[in-house]
Amino acid sequence: MSTERILIIGSNGQIGLELAESLRINYGSENVICSDVRQMEHQIMPFETLDVLDQNSLLAIVKKYNITQVYLLAALLSATAEKNPKFAWQLNMDGLFHVLDLAKEGLIKKVYWPSSIAVFGPSTPRLNTPQYTVMEPNTIYGISKQAGERYCEYYHQKYGVDVRSIRYPGLIGWKSAPGGGTTDYAVHIYHEALKQQSYNCFLSAETSLPMMYMPDAIRATIELMESPAEKVKIRSSYNVSGISFNPEEIAASIRKFIPNFTISYTPDFRQAIADSWPQSINDQEAREHWGWKPEFDLDAMTKVMLDNLGKQV
Ligand code: SER
Repeated sequence: MSTERILIIGSNGQIGLELAESLRINYGSENVICSDVRQMEHQIMPFETLDVLDQNSLLAIVKKYNITQVYLLAALLSATAEKNPKFAWQLNMDGLFHVLDLAKEGLIKKVYWPSSIAVFGPSTPRLNTPQYTVMEPNTIYGISKQAGERYCEYYHQKYGVDVRSIRYPGLIGWKSAPGGGTTDYAVHIYHEALKQQSYNCFLSAETSLPMMYMPDAIRATIELMESPAEKVKIRSSYNVSGISFNPEEIAASIRKFIPNFTISYTPDFRQAIADSWPQSINDQEAREHWGWKPEFDLDAMTKVMLDNLGKQV
């Protein structure tokens, strides 16, 4: 029987929904407590309505369930954050402080907090971007993730907090919808390909970005969290790499399964965000320290995405 009791904050978001499913299998559904600001129609239980900015409610839930681990997934993503920078900063930073402080006080043992490729900026080398490099993010989201990384490392060094993190690339899955990111096109494109065999993309044809199929991302997350502490040598956040492609390449991959699929391009404000991010990621440290290895390539992902979304349409 598992001795861990896990709280997922932001369990109804793109990552939370899929992560909850895997954690429930590994730890038993009664040991995975889902929480979000809103309850869904077919809500997975146990569930608590929680705004992570409400520190007292967070503390009450941690005590009520004897929580040992927290996965903090509540955040505003890159595109939404540009529209609401003050709230993005408040949510992304105060949420993290509330959870790190619980760990500092010994109320929880382990914290997972996601960072992002958005920590890099226009002055970062864009190809095969290394773990350690110039980091001058120029989006509110990226600045909050960069600051968050520094705080995670600080809490680890200063207070011994066991916090672990991954710099996610764009995440692509069929079980949940993305919300407010610059990489969201790579999910929408599959839905539109099935619905109307065409897609109008908000990024230009040659905009390459690092991406990952969701099951790889969930596996990376759980593998990192289950690694012995001494293997987790980086306490800011780990680069992990999956697949890198541009809109033209994902369209070509879709055409292998839907030959008459067409794509057009109307870049909007998200183009500038994408242009400030890496095109591909070097994840040597994650591979060496805790054995990370991605499984899905572009065509393998396209096939599973279209098969599964096809059943839903
Ligand atoms: N997928 C995220 C975004 O586009 C990147 O972390 O905002």
